Order: sequence, then structure tokens, then C-alpha cells
Amino acid sequence: MKKKTGAGLPQLRPGTLLLSLFIFLHCFFTRAQVTIPVETKNTALVIKTDADGRPGIIYFGKRLSDPSEYQHIPGGFRRGDDYSGILNSAYSPAGSRNLVEPALQLKHSDGNLSLDLLYVTHSQERSPGGITFLKVLLKDSKYPVEVTLYYKVYAEEDVIEQWSEIRNLEAGNISMQKYASANLYLSAENYYLRHYHGDWAKEMNPDEVRLTSGIKVLDSKLGTRANLYQPPTFMVSLDKPATENEGRVLMGSLEWSGNFKMDLEVDPLNNLRIIAGINPFASEYTLKPRESFVTPAFLYTYSEQGKGLASRNLHRWARKHRVPDGEGSRLTLLNNWEATYFDFNEEKLAGLIKDTKKLGVDMFLLDDGWFANKYPRNNDRAGLGDWQENVSKLPSGLGFLVKEARASQVKFGIWVEPEMVSPKSELYEKHPDWVVRQPGRSEHLYRNQLVLDLSNPAVQDFVFGVLDNILTRNPEVAFFKWDCNAVIYNAYSAYQTNQSHFYVEYVRGLYKVLDRMKAKYPKLPMMLCSGGGGRVDYGALKYFTEFWLSDNTDPLERIFMQWEYSYFYPAITHDNHVTDWGKQPIKFRTDVAMMGKLGFDIVVSHLNEKDLKFCQDAVAVYKSLSDVIWHGDLYRLADPFENDFSSLMYVNDNKSRAVMFSYQVSNRYGSGSLSPVKMGGLDPGKKYEVKEINLYPGSRSSWSTPRVFSGEYLMTIGVNPEVNVRRSSVVMEISEVK
Ligand code: GLA
Repeated sequence: MKKKTGAGLPQLRPGTLLLSLFIFLHCFFTRAQVTIPVETKNTALVIKTDADGRPGIIYFGKRLSDPSEYQHIPGGFRRGDDYSGILNSAYSPAGSRNLVEPALQLKHSDGNLSLDLLYVTHSQERSPGGITFLKVLLKDSKYPVEVTLYYKVYAEEDVIEQWSEIRNLEAGNISMQKYASANLYLSAENYYLRHYHGDWAKEMNPDEVRLTSGIKVLDSKLGTRANLYQPPTFMVSLDKPATENEGRVLMGSLEWSGNFKMDLEVDPLNNLRIIAGINPFASEYTLKPRESFVTPAFLYTYSEQGKGLASRNLHRWARKHRVPDGEGSRLTLLNNWEATYFDFNEEKLAGLIKDTKKLGVDMFLLDDGWFANKYPRNNDRAGLGDWQENVSKLPSGLGFLVKEARASQVKFGIWVEPEMVSPKSELYEKHPDWVVRQPGRSEHLYRNQLVLDLSNPAVQDFVFGVLDNILTRNPEVAFFKWDCNAVIYNAYSAYQTNQSHFYVEYVRGLYKVLDRMKAKYPKLPMMLCSGGGGRVDYGALKYFTEFWLSDNTDPLERIFMQWEYSYFYPAITHDNHVTDWGKQPIKFRTDVAMMGKLGFDIVVSHLNEKDLKFCQDAVAVYKSLSDVIWHGDLYRLADPFENDFSSLMYVNDNKSRAVMFSYQVSNRYGSGSLSPVKMGGLDPGKKYEVKEINLYPGSRSSWSTPRVFSGEYLMTIGVNPEVNVRRSSVVMEISEVK
């Protein structure tokens, strides 16, 4: 591991220690300007201190091959005078000369509100995996408050994670009103923000707007299920809206499963300030003497070749560095939620377990409704919190189902929603103080339930215990679907002495439970579900192998939704189930679900012979292609928002195999793919055989007979998948011929 300390200083070795110390002290007292390039393979963010030692971002964009040239960048992004001289601050402090949105705002122990952060030192460590870890230490010029900016740089993937740590070295408490993770500064003629809004079953609706001067805020105040209306992910195109393969674009996401706030401020110099972090709403945070606060990381990647490359950067990073078993495999499954809802018994489930085997998928997933006795979970109005098997539905317990699954040679997974409580439950009766609610005010329910106070360690033990008990009693349980359906109303914790810590401590409590799960069951795959995609973010995806995108499984809707999710999250994390939502034939529904981790939530015994045969064959086809879909690079070829059809493809690492999915998304007369669709990501010098696969039994197409083309042809001219209203979904396999 190499270590470098100080601006442009030689490597810190014992022999050079004294010299380094001398140079450091010299720099400190004379305030020599320090240039700190934060570089990935293709991108550079360059920090430079001004004559007074204030760190500013002087450049963000394409990396220069000679880093020593960054110091020549004239005045950074200063397009005119900004009066304060710190619009480009690398971490904007509040209360001194800064006049714009701060990254850090606090009250000192003496009540003073000012902060002015000056550079002290920086150090950099390189690890063999191409990861660089940079720390920049800043200190207030008057008060003993320190801030460390952290940059974890994944050079190969062109990804940076950035966060900060605020340290109170004062004799008394300080309280922070705002404590962002990151503060970026970009320069372009125009900025186009693509952000998302939604609701239950309507996740990831994009809006793309040109940012005008002032601040555009993306935020959530929902506590849990924080992304119900808006996720912590966005992208900004510079100069003009980026397309799939062209344009400058930054994609960003906060790694935090709670309230977030992103300020996007076009400043008086027409530069873009981005400040991202925990939402300061109702969350003033007190630090006692010698305490520090580490913010969650803000994750970003930048591409000068459009959105496609930026998203592939994030996918590669996620698979390699973030998502558990991101380069491994996933379990295909049959879920019983829509097949039975709450209405099942042992016999019915035993039948479904046999159907799991018949279908050819790996696992049966038992959903909601299996627990609670005093207030049985026969609908969504009771039982949450009482995690004992319901004796009338499951008299022989979960063990019976696990055994049935073993006999059918499939795995067994189970649904839980351990953070929640129904007012009609024994848990609520026993532990009213564990419930998040305002004393003296009436309760307001979401999906008839309330949230448990995970900021309380006793509740953390309980929640961990729910999962641990299931696994201890049934070690063969192979999967959890961890749901979280309610938002937090009437935020109040009977445990916290400082109520404004509650939102932060809730998420920390959740992560503590998940850390315990990960430590004890490191290999257990888990689905992150939140009444759909209400909680997906890269903080949670440290623990979950996959996520449930939406309860809306109408395949037409999913084409659009999966398209947008796919900018940020790789296919291996997308849980897609074939259900009875939508009017499309089973082939269309299955093809759409194949663009991720395939599952089914249908009554297998209701399928006619041909549909069943198609599904069984599709599972086999999917298994043969899953390596390409899960681990390959995604190329979006035809945007459903702009065309009558949608096309995209996954290409494996050595460009020997690919799969292309195309769907009709319009019912208009004569609509469809009328001309060839250019492919992406292949090797121009290789020859490929192209053929249609996953055909419905008895159907044929002009692509049933394979044809051979060069990679160059496929990417320059392309082929027409011939999707139209009668041929509404087409899957093509592209394999190298030697
Ligand atoms: C949520 C989930 C669904 C299902 C139900 C069960 O809505 O998103 O998939 O598990 O809960 O109540």
C-alpha cells in the first residue's frame, strides 16, 4: 500500500519525515496554494486552495494526461467575480463569507454561527484493486472544529464515493443544522437535470428539465420508504441533454436509506453547485466534545460518451464493489403473493412448491400472511410484529414447508416486514413504547400499520431476533424478502433524548441490524422490498443482493420503469416477476421479466398447456443466458420514450455472446421497428450468428434460422428485430462464430 501525504510532496517514508514536516509547516504558515487532483481513469475533480487556504473545486471533467497542468487552470471556474471568492468551495461552510447554500452549517458551543474551513493537510492511499483513498483535512480558522473530506476513487470504473466527517474538538456541544456528504462544482453553458418522481406502483417516472438560476431541490422527508415519491438518484447533462452514446453527463446517488436532500444550484456565475446529503429537515444533530459525525457517501460517475457509458460504470462498480455477490448468481423463483394473497394453507402451499419444481425455477418464496395468532395476518389490518407461524394456516410450522421444498429439490424463501407493527398485534400491546408515534396525538396509519423505533437498541435486538429465529429454527431457509411498507408519520421516539436525532438514528439502527445479519449470515441472499421500490439506494444495497422495483408488474409499464432503473442499478439486482398484471401474452410478460432476475407470481396450475410449456422452456433459456444478463454490459438501443418500440442488449465481457430484447410499446397502426436497430458493445472484428430465441411454442419467425454478420455490420447497420403489434416481443441471441 502506497501512502502520500501533503500537496505534491514526496512519498512519506521514515527518512523523509523531518523534511516533510518542515515542508508541511512551511506550507501551512505561508499558505502555499495546494492542488489536489482526484482522478479516475477518465475523470478528474481538482481541488485547489486559494491564497488564504480555502479549498475550491477548480475543475471537474475529462482527466488531463499530465496532472501537473491542473495548476495552470486560470482561476478555476471563475467566470466573473463572485464577491465571496468561495462559490466553488469544496465544502461550503455557513456563516462567514459564504452567501449561498452551505454544505455544513453549525452552532458552536458558545452559540456562534460562523464557520470558515481552511486546508490543513491531505493524504492518499492506493490499494491494489485500483482504489485510491484520499482524505483532505480542513479546520475552522477560529474554532476547534475539523472536517475531513473523504474521496474513495475507483479508477477503473470511473466512480467516486465522497463523504465527510465533522469533528467537535470544542469544550462544549456543537449542533449541526446541515451536514452534507458532498459538494461538487461543475461548469457548462447549460445544465439538464433528469430526476424521478412516483408513488406506489408508479416508480421512476423521469422528468428532464433545464436548470435555471436558483436552487432545485430533490428531497425526501418520509423517514422509512423514503423514495416513495422521489429516489436519491439523478443525472445532470452538461451543455445539452446527453444521449445514450454522446454528451457529458454526471450520474449521482446518495447511499442513504432515509431522508435525503440534493441541492442543485445554478450560481451567479452560471456554474452548478451540487450539495448532497442527509436531509437536515427536523434533524439538527448535536455533537458532544470529541464526537464526530460521519456522513453517508455520495456516489457519482461522469461520462463524456453519454448515459450508456455512465450507467455501465455504475453497474460495473456495483457488481464488483457494492452489491453482495454482485458477480455471483441469483435464485429464480415462484412467489405466492398474487397467486394466493393471504388465503392459503399447508396443502395449497405444498401444491405451489411442487409447481415451483414443475416450472423449473430454483426457489419457492412464501409471501405475507404466514404469521400471527391472537390477531391473525389474514389481511393487511393485523398481525405485523407477531412473527410466529399462524397455527390454523400452518399447523406444522415453517419446518413442514421447508421439508416439502427439500423433497421437491427447490429452495425455500420467506417474506418478512420486521420493522413494522400493526396496532392490532400482541407486539403493539406489549411494547407501545417501541412504536414511532407522537404522545398525545392521534395515530395516522399507512397501510394500516406503524413503524417500530429502530433507533432503540431493544428494537434492533427484536428485529434481528425475528430473522435470526427463523433461520435458527429453519437453517434451510435460503432467502428473505425484506419489506417495508409504511412511511413515518408523527415522528417521535420514546427512546431518544434528542428528538432531532431520530431520523438519522433510525437509519443507523437499520444498518446495525443489517450488519448483524451480514456478520452471522454472510451468504444469505435478500430482496430489498418496500411496497415496490420505495427504498432502493446504494446504502441498502450493501446488504441486499437484489431489489423489488415496483408492485406494478404490468410488463408495458415495466419496460419504461426498468429502463430508468437501469441507468443506476445493474440487471443482477432487478427482481422482475411474471404476474397477471397487464394484458400482454405470457411470452411478452416473461421476456420483460428476463431482463433482470426472473421470477414468477402466477398460478402455475391455471396455465394452459402451451403457456406452461413456454414458461418451462423460457426458464431453461433464461438459465442459459443469465450469465450475460447478470454480468454483461448493458447497451440501450431504442428508447421506449422516443420510439414505438424499445430495444436493449446485454453483452458479455469478452464480447462472445449477447442477448437483445425488443418490445412493441405502441398500438398505433403500422408502428414497430421499421428499420434495422444498430447494436452496441460487440467486437467489430468478430463474426456473430444472430437468431431469435424464446419463441412461443409453434411460432416461427424469419429470424428462426440463424444468420451470420460481422460485429462491424451489426453495430453500423444493425438488424431489424421486426417487432410490431402482432410480434410484440422478440428475444435474439448473438453468439460469436469462430
Ligand atoms: C408489498 C410488496 C408485495 C407483497 C406485499 C405483501 O406490497 O411489495 O410484493 O409482498 O407487500 O403484503
